[in-house]
Amino acid sequence: MQMDIVDLTANSSATGVDAHEQFALDVLTGLCSSPKQIPAKYFYDDNGSRLFQQIMHQEEYYLSRAELAILDAAQHELPKLVEGENIDIIELGPGDGAKSRLVISGFLRAGRSVNYYPIDISAKALDLLANNLPKDRRLSVHGIIADYTQGLRYARALSGNRQLVLFLGSNIGNFDTCQSQAFLRSVWASLAAHDRLIVGFDLKKDVATLTSAYNDSGGHTRAFNLNLLRRINKELGADFDLNGFQHFGVYNPVLGAMESYLLSVRVQEVYIAALERSFGFEEFEPLHLEYSFKFLEQDIERLCDQIGFGLERNFYDPKHYVVDSLWSVHKNKSLS
Ligand SMILES: C[S@@+](CC[C@H](N)C(=O)[O-])C[C@H]1O[C@@H](n2cnc3c(N)ncnc32)[C@H](O)[C@@H]1O
Repeated sequence: MQMDIVDLTANSSATGVDAHEQFALDVLTGLCSSPKQIPAKYFYDDNGSRLFQQIMHQEEYYLSRAELAILDAAQHELPKLVEGENIDIIELGPGDGAKSRLVISGFLRAGRSVNYYPIDISAKALDLLANNLPKDRRLSVHGIIADYTQGLRYARALSGNRQLVLFLGSNIGNFDTCQSQAFLRSVWASLAAHDRLIVGFDLKKDVATLTSAYNDSGGHTRAFNLNLLRRINKELGADFDLNGFQHFGVYNPVLGAMESYLLSVRVQEVYIAALERSFGFEEFEPLHLEYSFKFLEQDIERLCDQIGFGLERNFYDPKHYVVDSLWSVHKNKSLS
């Protein structure tokens, strides 16, 4: 296996704003919003990626176990459904690559050569991933440290074979309906008619199962959420007191989403040196961190059709908690 890595975050946008400046701008925008919020993509500094690995191993966190079971069973099927002697697997937010390994191994076992392009905003995630991939001379790995959209544009320019794009782990759930449509349509635009996309969705289920997954008894989700404040302290020179905030994960049945908040347990002021200003928090004021939208099967079918994909096959875990949905690309279809 060969692996090279490119870091696109140094100059992260067309405006020439680097990743650090963008982080400061996003924190400023988020803390000036009502309710206050920080975009979920900032969870994943080195420590955040490590903490997320611990969450994945918690008993209550059914998502990883369920999707590993799905891909373990599906790995033999996928090479039959996605043809071509050489295949380019592009993965959006692969994390530690435990799931990627199963998909890649299936193609290698079927005698195919694989170019794998993992795109992750976290350099640490790509480090962890390198240890999880199969050691095989028919596998070459081109790691891309970047935001999804920027990384996808970069990978598309390099890729010359049939593409299978993976968007697993219910990462799609962090987007609301409009953002999901816009994002998936941009993925659609980057693909050709014979390419495929697999999206991992978390299905709606019993509220107790959902809430305990996001409030694990080991406190790992709490630590993961508080780490975002620690990251702002470290990278933007802030003075958040981590004991001044309480983790709160709750299911919103109107939105159909788990929501993660940190609640300010007292009236307090936080100074952020990089922004040269303070932000006041009222007692029990929420800081919104993350949505994790949950889906019904008909939501997935509608989304797939609206964007211009065709639903080829749904792969389920034995409890029907999670679905990995394999989509083909219908070109000449406008967004409906
Ligand atoms: C919830 S984890 C899921 C990891 C993996 N897909 C899985 O199913 O186990 C999300 C991963 O996506 C990455 N990520 C989150 N937002 C991102 C973004 N906007 N662009 C690129 N990577 C992102 C994180 O660094 C993390 O590795």
